[in-house]
Amino acid sequence: MKQNKRSNVKGLEDILVITERISHMKDIDALLDRILYEARKFTSADAGTIFLEEGDKLKFAYVQNDTLFRKDKDTGYNKYLYANQEMTIDERSIAGYVAKTNSSLLIKDAYRIPSSAPYSFNLDFDRRSNYHTKSILTVPLHTSLGNVVGVLQVINPKTKKNRTTFFTEKDELLITYFGINAANAVERAMMTRTMILRMIRMAELRDPKETGNHVNRVGAYTIEIYHRWATKYGIEEEDIKKNKDILRIAAMLHDVGKVAISDTILKKPAKLDEQEYNIMKYHTIFGARLFPNPASELDVVASEICLNHHERWDGKGYPGKVGNIFREELRMAAGKQGAEIPISSRIVALADVYDALISKRVYKEAWEESKVLDYIKEQSGAQFDPEVVEAFFAIYDVIKAIRTKYTDENEN
Ligand code: C2E
Ligand code: SIN
Ligand code: SIN
Ligand code: FE
Ligand code: FE
Repeated sequence: MKQNKRSNVKGLEDILVITERISHMKDIDALLDRILYEARKFTSADAGTIFLEEGDKLKFAYVQNDTLFRKDKDTGYNKYLYANQEMTIDERSIAGYVAKTNSSLLIKDAYRIPSSAPYSFNLDFDRRSNYHTKSILTVPLHTSLGNVVGVLQVINPKTKKNRTTFFTEKDELLITYFGINAANAVERAMMTRTMILRMIRMAELRDPKETGNHVNRVGAYTIEIYHRWATKYGIEEEDIKKNKDILRIAAMLHDVGKVAISDTILKKPAKLDEQEYNIMKYHTIFGARLFPNPASELDVVASEICLNHHERWDGKGYPGKVGNIFREELRMAAGKQGAEIPISSRIVALADVYDALISKRVYKEAWEESKVLDYIKEQSGAQFDPEVVEAFFAIYDVIKAIRTKYTDENEN
């Protein structure tokens, strides 16, 4: 019998397993990353891209490429994640054609598309990166109700011997089916993201220096620092991906407890006096109380981060070992120290302070970048966990890419 040359040809059953795996994911970014990874693994594709629809544009949401980004493998990240690129949805591009016609497209050789086709292959990417795109399979991400949320594209399938081959019609069928399940998960995660952003906006409306971008940045810094830290600790890639899903959302919620702080304190355009600052410290406990469900993984991590993001490695932070946070009378207590502070919160502590210092706030000017970095180095082992500081500097180019992606026009 003829053996199939492809290393990973699978069937419908495997698609169901993968679908189950993604169906519980909450964070939209972690989900997209996962969808692309699974689609590529399933088809043995060397590269792939996810585009999301925004109005009449397709936005480059995720790109993975084993050949080009191999160097980044040991660090477990790639900065291209944070590239801002978009294209118009029309029939001239391959992804645009698929989005517009809502049907899949299998191309055997990107360089031999007949000139009669409405779409053509954009050579820019190959030119800029020295990559050679050959076989492209592109499917629409449309939900079972027919909403198109984006486009999924896989590129250059490999044989077991790592030779580039072609996608088959079976791949097309299965990835199209996977696309529907993926689109449903994407739609659900977008809804979760919307709900969370509403919750954050409620806190923001009250806090003049709070912006959506600050929250987005702290969420992104946190998961990237975590990824680096966890890789170093030998935590399984599978677990890292799962944890990042929850971690980003929870980190974005770190300050929601500020909804319970009075305007006079929150909006004071000057330094807080001691009494005001003591009240402000309760935003940690107030935040933690908003997530009481121990059966919800998101509640557990969000509560933990709200409570502990102002603890310090040296034990001089707050609110300290307060015990049961639901007790009526609560006072600040002796600080938690070192590993007593959950890793999630040790990371958010650094991400939050970095962003607070490098940005302008109602009560302070933005610091020079070099001054911020000196401060962080100086506070390694004091305010911050040294290993978290190390992870932060190891991925500093990613941190900067995140800052560029989420900039406030009205900030700085
Ligand atoms: P935030 O503004 O987001 O600041 C988060 C954390 O960044 C601060 O936690 C602190 O650790 C660090 N940070 C911010 N600015 C500076 C700075 O100029 N120097 C240094 N060394 N660190 C800085 P912290 O201090 O516990 O404050 C928690 C929150 O309380 C702040 O969040 C802010 O909302 C509020 N806050 C703190 N101080 C003041 C103040 O003087 N005036 C006003 N209006 N709000 C303040
Ligand atoms: C503050 O008291 O406002 C700043 C505290 C710190 O610098 O850690
Ligand atoms: C924020 O992080 O959302 C602003 C206040 C803080 O950083 O603690
Ligand atoms: Fe805070
Ligand atoms: Fe913050």
